[in-house]
Amino acid sequence: MDIEVNTVETKLTDIDAASLEEAGEIIRAGGLVAFPTETVYGLGADAMNGAAAARIYEAKGRPSDNPLIVHIADMEQLDLVARDIPKPARQIMEAFWPGPLTVILHKKEEVPDGTTGGLQTVAVRMPSHPTAQALIRESGRVIAAPSANTSGRPSPTMAEHVLEDMDGRIPLILDGGPVGIGIESTIVDMTGEVPMILRPGYITKSMLEDVVGTVQVDPAVSGRTMQKDIVAKAPGMKYRHYAPKGQLILVEGPRNAVVDKINSLAEEKMQQGYHVGILATDEGMADYRVGYRMSIGSRERPDSIAANLYKVLRECDEQKLDYIYSESFFEEGLGNAIMNRMLKAAGYHLISL
Ligand code: TXA
Ligand code: MG
Repeated sequence: MDIEVNTVETKLTDIDAASLEEAGEIIRAGGLVAFPTETVYGLGADAMNGAAAARIYEAKGRPSDNPLIVHIADMEQLDLVARDIPKPARQIMEAFWPGPLTVILHKKEEVPDGTTGGLQTVAVRMPSHPTAQALIRESGRVIAAPSANTSGRPSPTMAEHVLEDMDGRIPLILDGGPVGIGIESTIVDMTGEVPMILRPGYITKSMLEDVVGTVQVDPAVSGRTMQKDIVAKAPGMKYRHYAPKGQLILVEGPRNAVVDKINSLAEEKMQQGYHVGILATDEGMADYRVGYRMSIGSRERPDSIAANLYKVLRECDEQKLDYIYSESFFEEGLGNAIMNRMLKAAGYHLISL
C-alpha cells in the first residue's frame, strides 16, 4: 500500500463494509483517511503513531505546533490518551458525548508529540457520526483528525470539498454526504480551575453551564477585534482560518444602514473592475442590488447558517470574488460560534455603523 503523501491516487468512495475495511487498514498502516463527522470532515491518522500524525501536517500544509484532536469511539479508549480526569470533565462528557464537543485533558505519556504539538495536554472528542464511529472501531485505533482542509481554507462540509483540497495527497475519502452541523466542535479546556472555552461551537456556553456551573471563554476568541497581545490557548486559533481568497468584510449596525452601506461599497468596487460578492440571509436577499449574491441561510434558523457557511465561503473562491461584503449575526447561542468563524474569515475586518 502506498502511504506517501503527494504521490497517491485519491479515491472517493461510498461508505460500506468494504470501504470501511480498507480505511481501517490504511489507518493501521500509518496512512491518512478523510471521513465525515457530525461537525466537518476530518483527516484521520493513528493518533498513537507520531509518524502518521506527521503525515497529516504534511498533507494539510499545517504548522506542526498546532495540535490535533484525538477521536475515540468509547470510554475505554479515553484511558489510552488521558489521565487524572476531573469530575466536571466526566460530567460534560457524559452530557454531550458522543457529539460536537472536544475536551482538553492531561495527556498520557504514550500520546506522541506529533499528535499534541509537544503539549502536555490532549484534545479528545467522541464523535456521534456513525461513519466516524465505525472507522475508529474498524481501525482498532484512536484517530487524530483535524478538519480535512488545506491549512487556512474553510473546513470541508462535503466530500467534494475534501477532494478539492486533498486530491493527490491522501489515498481515500469516505463520502458520507453533507455534514449536519457544519462548524467545528466546541473546545473546552478542563485542565484549569474553571472550564474554559477555547473555541465556540454548537455546544454553547450556557449548555455547558447547565451541567458544570460557571464556564469562562478564552479572551482571545471572544474578541471582536484582533487581539495581538493576547495569546490564544488553542494554538490553532491564532492562525488565519476559514478564509476565502478574496477579502471578506463584515458590516454591522441598524438594518437599513447595513444594506445601504453594503450596496454602495459593492457598487464602488464593481466600478473599479473587481468581482464582488454579497453574503446575506434568506430574509435579506431582496435588499441587495448588485454583485454575486449568496444566502447563507435563514436568520430564524442559526443552524442553517452554520451548515451553509463554509460551502458559501468556498463558493466565493469558485466565483473568484475579490471582495465579499456580509451582514453580521447575533452573538447569542450558536450565533456566537458563527460570528467567531466569520470574524476570523474576515481577518477581523468589521465595519460598525
Ligand atoms: O469538529 C472538529 O473538532 C473537527 C472534526 C474533524 O472533529 N476537527 C477540528 O480539528 O476542527 P482542527 O485540527 O481543525 O482544530 C483543532 C483545534 C486547533 O485550534 C488546536 O489548536 C486545538 O484544537 N487543540 C488541539 N489540542 C489542543 C490542546 N491540547 N490544547 C489546546 N488546544 C488544542
Ligand atoms: Mg481546522
